[in-house]
Amino acid sequence: MKVLLVNGSPRKDGNTFTALSEAARVLQEEGFDTDFFHIGNQPVRGCITCGTCSQTNSGRCVFNDDAANHLIEAAESADAFIFGSPTYYGQPNGALLAVIQRALYAGSQAFAFKPVASVVVARRGGATAAFQTMNMPFQMCNMPIATSQYWNIIYGALKGEAKLDPEGLQTMRTLAHNLAWMTRNLAAEPHYDLASEPHQRTNFIR
Ligand SMILES: Cc1cc2nc3c(=O)[nH]c(=O)nc-3n(C[C@H](O)[C@H](O)[C@H](O)COP(=O)(O)O)c2cc1C
Repeated sequence: MKVLLVNGSPRKDGNTFTALSEAARVLQEEGFDTDFFHIGNQPVRGCITCGTCSQTNSGRCVFNDDAANHLIEAAESADAFIFGSPTYYGQPNGALLAVIQRALYAGSQAFAFKPVASVVVARRGGATAAFQTMNMPFQMCNMPIATSQYWNIIYGALKGEAKLDPEGLQTMRTLAHNLAWMTRNLAAEPHYDLASEPHQRTNFIR
């Protein structure tokens, strides 16, 4: 089984990578394959509500020139996910949010019913708000969320400083252990059935 670790920082080898790497190490010890997906530092589009993905049911976003469709592709062969982000102004990286929003909207089937967790990095403040924002899309996409012994936060500013946060590293290890347990047990459960009902889209217009 494979866990996809999504690095939502433009710094490929920064503190988000340090946090995800600590989790990856534990996942490997638990017998999981791990793959990293870096959203990188190239421009990313926001969703333009064109509706093409819904109309064509293609499972892909109409824009094929950034990380969103690559993420959907990588998600198809993953059994679980950890999404990591730096905290920017008390929020996750905007580019990562744009990628997540488009990938989940166009490619929801590659993510649904697969366990997920978010982790955030901060120099000092705003991490809990960023963490909550990260979890919002997963909570409405039928993705069971794994937790740890604290909110999934690690502290650091300069590259690699997160290695100096023992409690943050511990949180990542426990998270990885819990995600592994959840993923393994859900897969082994013969009655694993988190199927949702067809959406009754009730917009508040009367
Ligand atoms: C635009 C920007 C905004 C930031 N805002 C915050 C913030 O609100 N709170 C905070 O603690 N750190 C903030 N930081 C610091 C980063 O979260 C921190 O350096 C983090 O380690 C970066 O992760 P990375 O090494 O994976 O890129 C900000 C950094 C940038 C570039």
